[in-house]
Amino acid sequence: MLVIEKISQISGTISVPGDKSISHRAVMLAAISKGKTTIEGFLDGQDCLSTVSCFRAMGVQIEQQGQRVEVEGRGLAGLQEPQDILDAGNSGTTMRLLSGILAGQNFFSVLTGDQSLRQRPMARVTEPLKLMGAVIDGRQSGQLAPLGIRGGGLQGITWETPVASAQIKSAILLAGLYASGQTTVQEPAISRDHTERMLAGFGIQVERQGTAVTVRPGILEGQHILVPGDISSAAFFMVAAAAKPGSHLIIKNVGLNPTRTGIIDVLRQMGADIEIENLRSFGGEEAGDMIIRGASLTGTEINSEIVPRLIDEIPVLAVAAALADGVTYIRGAGELKVKESNRLAAIASELRKLGVQITELSDGLEIHGPNQIRGAAVNSYHDHRIAMALAVCGLFAEGKTTIADSGCIDISFPGFGELLLQIAR
Ligand code: S3P
Repeated sequence: MLVIEKISQISGTISVPGDKSISHRAVMLAAISKGKTTIEGFLDGQDCLSTVSCFRAMGVQIEQQGQRVEVEGRGLAGLQEPQDILDAGNSGTTMRLLSGILAGQNFFSVLTGDQSLRQRPMARVTEPLKLMGAVIDGRQSGQLAPLGIRGGGLQGITWETPVASAQIKSAILLAGLYASGQTTVQEPAISRDHTERMLAGFGIQVERQGTAVTVRPGILEGQHILVPGDISSAAFFMVAAAAKPGSHLIIKNVGLNPTRTGIIDVLRQMGADIEIENLRSFGGEEAGDMIIRGASLTGTEINSEIVPRLIDEIPVLAVAAALADGVTYIRGAGELKVKESNRLAAIASELRKLGVQITELSDGLEIHGPNQIRGAAVNSYHDHRIAMALAVCGLFAEGKTTIADSGCIDISFPGFGELLLQIAR
């Protein structure tokens, strides 16, 4: 249980743990490349550790000590048939991206996950992989995990996905490394493009044309990867500092890949004072230091065009909206219903307990602010981002806020509570 009390300001200089999406991909691409890969800044959180343990179960030697990881690549065809079921835990990225790699293997594997992951839609990934030639089954005709995959003999496809999702896109592109010919994924809007950037860094030819990406099979060579801080983790501190007048927070080394920076645009639109310094780029990924000064925020509109660039930040943006003056509408965010929890329902129900005027819409949220936040007992729904968003709201509440089932924060942000204490004044 996490107990949060009201603070008067946020100040200090911090850094946040490594980017979750980049950490997963670094281990996956390293495992199927030739030679050794070293990863620094790796996210030592439960989700990425699920990826590490799945690859170890397929014979990949991985040394992990905190944020430093060394992977002995086994080459494209070097993975071994796992002797037991692979467990992706709570991690959708592990299950979906790994399905793409497993579809390319000449062996049988079974992938499962925790109670939440076993409820999340998998047909969006298994359908195109089956079309490429993999034999895949799962509960409810292959829609839900556990998934059984007999891979191999793939042909490239052109796949148009109705949802902008980096997990779908990446699964198909990774399978494309094992397919004859070329593989193209076309999405309605560009989702995070870490897979494309990292594949190019490992030596694979990747072409982008508008919202379509194409890969051809090739050989991946081991790399040295520096993972920047995760903007989705920084988001909780960004909102806390931005909405608390008098605050001054520096967050060092935050990933600023433009497919992820929607939160900066929206907070600025709401009146937040955010500056970026020391902008740099390594391994095809931008990063920089963020300076946030507290201000009064105003309500805004978040619509479907920007949603893919801030998909994981919507729970904490709902908190920013609760503190802002005026109405905020979030639309085009129906995908939030199939995340680690139904995030629209979860955040609406728990913020209401804290005194926020919030209504769940069919594909979004309507939030009226500012609200007199009052401490209450709330629940995380076993969803790390819901737990942390509620903690941020608790910083503005009269009285104590207690968040039950907060252990799930370790999924993406071990040390969140300690870091909060460090900067709360
Ligand atoms: C992720 C993609 C997003 C995001 C998730 C991580 C990734 O999911 O919500 O936390 O690493 O590819 P979708 O691709 O389903 O939108």
